[in-house]
Amino acid sequence: MEVIILKNAEKVAATGARLVGELLRVRPAAVLGLATGGTQLALYRQLVERYRINKISFRQVSSFNLDEYLGIAADNPQSYRAYMDREFFDRIDIDKKNTYLPYCEEGQNPILVGPCYEQKIHDAGGIDLQIMGIGANGHIGFNEPSSSLGSRTRVKTLTRQTFKDNSRLFSETEFQPKLAITMGIATIMDARKILLLATGENKAGAVSKMVEGPVSAMCPASVL
Ligand code: F6R
Repeated sequence: MEVIILKNAEKVAATGARLVGELLRVRPAAVLGLATGGTQLALYRQLVERYRINKISFRQVSSFNLDEYLGIAADNPQSYRAYMDREFFDRIDIDKKNTYLPYCEEGQNPILVGPCYEQKIHDAGGIDLQIMGIGANGHIGFNEPSSSLGSRTRVKTLTRQTFKDNSRLFSETEFQPKLAITMGIATIMDARKILLLATGENKAGAVSKMVEGPVSAMCPASVL
């Protein structure tokens, strides 16, 4: 693991965008693992900017997001699909039919979504670069503390802390899901490269546990 410490969130995003750009230059049909959340917004802005000035193209890229809420429709503005379209996919030249999230269609058995998603990742040749954030409790994707380090894509219940952390994004009258489908820790670790971005003081404890602490299911990010 290489730890790169930078002055501010903009520099973190710029470095992330540069690394994505370098990958796409050598591998235009790369498979990207993507994440949602506040941290990634600056990265997506930088990538969109690079696309606009013709520095990179996503035309041949396919993508797999880490997670999606269970129980809200894809066209609900709170879904991670809606976030990805709004913040990234609708602003670049990616072919949206090559963008995947572990979404459970209405009437589908959520238990079956995970294995199908794993198969799709496998069929795409695996993830070249997984981009992700970290929760204040050390979660990656929605793999909350105590998640098995050998876990694969499946349904997870959000912890109270994650639910509370994310409540800032929901109005009082909006339904906030407590369940999600997330890539597992072993799924994430299958990626050829992983780029974890962490910004803000509230992540300092989790980053310290990830980098300096023991490998433990109580801090899922420590597996890195
Ligand atoms: C989102 C995801 C989460 C977030 C994490 C940090 O797809 O997988 O693990 O990366 O909760 O979220 P922010 O960036 O909002 O602090």
